[in-house]
Amino acid sequence: MYEKLQPVAEDPILALMARYRCDTHPNKLDLGIGVYKDEQGKTPIMQAVSSAERLLLAHETSKSYIGPAGSEGFNRLMAQLVFGGDHTVIREQRVVSAQTPGGCGALRIGAELLASCSPTGRIWVSDPTWANHRPLLAGAGLEIREYPYYDAEQRTIRFSEMIDTLNRAEAGDIVLLHGCCHNPTGADLEPAQWRALAELIERRGLMPFVDIAYQGLGEGLDEDAYGVRYLADYLPEMMVATSCSKNFGLYRERTGALFLIGRTASQTERAGGQLFSRIRSHYSMPPAHGGAVVETILDDPRLNALWMSELNAMRERIRYLRHQLVDRLEHAGVAGDFRHIRHQRGMFSFLGIAREQVVALRKQYSIYLVDSGRFNLAGLSNRSVDYFVDALAQTVGT
Ligand code: LMR
Repeated sequence: MYEKLQPVAEDPILALMARYRCDTHPNKLDLGIGVYKDEQGKTPIMQAVSSAERLLLAHETSKSYIGPAGSEGFNRLMAQLVFGGDHTVIREQRVVSAQTPGGCGALRIGAELLASCSPTGRIWVSDPTWANHRPLLAGAGLEIREYPYYDAEQRTIRFSEMIDTLNRAEAGDIVLLHGCCHNPTGADLEPAQWRALAELIERRGLMPFVDIAYQGLGEGLDEDAYGVRYLADYLPEMMVATSCSKNFGLYRERTGALFLIGRTASQTERAGGQLFSRIRSHYSMPPAHGGAVVETILDDPRLNALWMSELNAMRERIRYLRHQLVDRLEHAGVAGDFRHIRHQRGMFSFLGIAREQVVALRKQYSIYLVDSGRFNLAGLSNRSVDYFVDALAQTVGT
């Protein structure tokens, strides 16, 4: 039976991670997958996470099933983190939350539910978007369309073209938006743009699906949630997927959440029932450990404060590295305009170099970037930035 299966194209991000692991070059540099690394090139376990794990080890009393929705405490605290504690949708009981296996689990299960109720079965994604969005959403049965987002020449958002395109979307179409730290461009919508988008979405009868996988890594936990909170205030219905991979460093624990917002409390409850039944028929229920760690942190003022200070330090270090890199590229006279990297947000930006140059960096210097030229700022360090700048100067010219 398996002989009928065709070989698949490799995943552009995971394939790089595998190649990097096999590379024996002493100065190899992984700027591919979106994982935070410290000055020593390690991805540390956050202290708040280790402390929470110790508490769990000492006090956890059962490994019994947690149910399709996951932990009630995790869901409540995560909804407060994303929407803010006193948001209308929480007060009006118009949000149903599900703990999910990572942000991917949230995206997939949310897309499955939307595919079953959208009259057009169509979703609009930004051009470009994260490489796994397409397989996740198309795999759920949604037809994918693109709206213009990033101008690679000008290094700015093509906002008026985005609006023009979405103005032609049909009622019931879904629009996928990046809540903050746009992946792969690092170019985020400004508050006034979110407000204009909310007005368009309401006028055209569209359904927003927000992916906010990097909350806290752009400007701050509240600042990064501006768009998602505004849409939730302005619009009657939406779907939101979030992840604890980056802001809690829980990558391999597969911890995320999906929030469904409905028009009324009773409609939301009914839609929630459909959501949980879908979860039951897919993976039955989420893994518990990562969610228990997050719940322990968010529920304990001392651990919460520790986590926030660690998250702030990660964000500030990424911002510092953005400035360091551009300063050194300019100082070395590397050909090209890199100024956009300074003010973009989150882990990623495009370097703006050709694919052949990305391949040359990999082959000659063991520096790993995604073929599109997306690179992970959080993979750099004070030590490696000079190696990166020298390699770029040799590859791109001065
Ligand atoms: C990335 O974009 O590198 C991360 O979201 C990790 C992944 O799974 O692709």
